[in-house]
Amino acid sequence: MASPSSSSGSLLTILFLFCLPAWCSVSGFKICAFNVQSFGDSKIRNTEVVHTLVRIVSRCDVCLLQEVRDTKRKAVPLLMKALNSYNSKHQYDYVASHRLGRTSSYQEQYVFVYRTSSVIVTDQYQYPDTLLGDEDAFSREPFIVRLRAPKTAIKEFVLVPQHTTPSNATKEIDALYDVFLEIKRRWKTETVMFLGDFNADCGYLAKKNRQRVRLYSNQAFLWLIGDKDDTTVRDSTSCAYDRIVVHEESFAGALVPQSAKPFNFAKEYGLTEEQALVVSDHYPVEVELRAWSAQIGGNSPLLIFLIFTAVFIST
Ligand SMILES: *[C@@H]1O[C@H](CO)[C@@H](O)[C@H](O)[C@H]1NC(C)=O
Repeated sequence: MASPSSSSGSLLTILFLFCLPAWCSVSGFKICAFNVQSFGDSKIRNTEVVHTLVRIVSRCDVCLLQEVRDTKRKAVPLLMKALNSYNSKHQYDYVASHRLGRTSSYQEQYVFVYRTSSVIVTDQYQYPDTLLGDEDAFSREPFIVRLRAPKTAIKEFVLVPQHTTPSNATKEIDALYDVFLEIKRRWKTETVMFLGDFNADCGYLAKKNRQRVRLYSNQAFLWLIGDKDDTTVRDSTSCAYDRIVVHEESFAGALVPQSAKPFNFAKEYGLTEEQALVVSDHYPVEVELRAWSAQIGGNSPLLIFLIFTAVFIST
């Protein structure tokens, strides 16, 4: 008869040998949003900045980059090249909006970078500037993507990026509710996550105005990054500008508890404030979705079969 330690050893071995990643993976699926503060030509030429960006973006299954000001259209492809040679475990691809903005002198793109092994982009929709009868509803209309992520418990969801203009933040965040209604009409889904630099704090979204913001007053939506969080790099500021908001019922049970937070890359990578500010004045924000197997957990027939077999063989 095998000793308890050797039987649990063979149990682990058998689980390890038979476990397909899709069945046994319990690691979450990370969604990130990062305002890279004027990302373009000069940042991509700074190897230390690129290295830090690659480390940040490669942590995520999908990462929204904002404030991409790549006028020469070289910085994003070069970032992708660096990302794809950084870690052979994952390959990345991206989808990008057009250059958005009221004036031709100042424009930005939304860019979604994603792991090709865990994400399929099934739809893209550039929200038009005329739909609300107010062509000034947004400074940068959302570039909306629908993703299939087979490894997550919810399988499919919609991401709505938004980088507001600070002085119009209240109005622009409110208008995201109209975007939600349009997605519901077009794609018959409410599984929608809003993310990005909303400028939703420190004077740009006053407490007294919040009840007028439908994304805030409507109880259907859950704000995952709290007012106490700090998404700014500077020690002298503490503002929750960057946010992640979900349609609560659609994401019920799909989020990893307590996983929504700013990612303090300065602390994580041992950078001084000055070094971090060369990368961006914002921290990324992130949240994790549960993996599919974690959802079915102990009810998985395959898992029960494997444990049964393992116990049987080991005794
Ligand atoms: C703020 O919104 C108004 C329209 O409501 C628009 O005319 C103005 O240009 C916007 N400001 C900026 C800085 O985009």
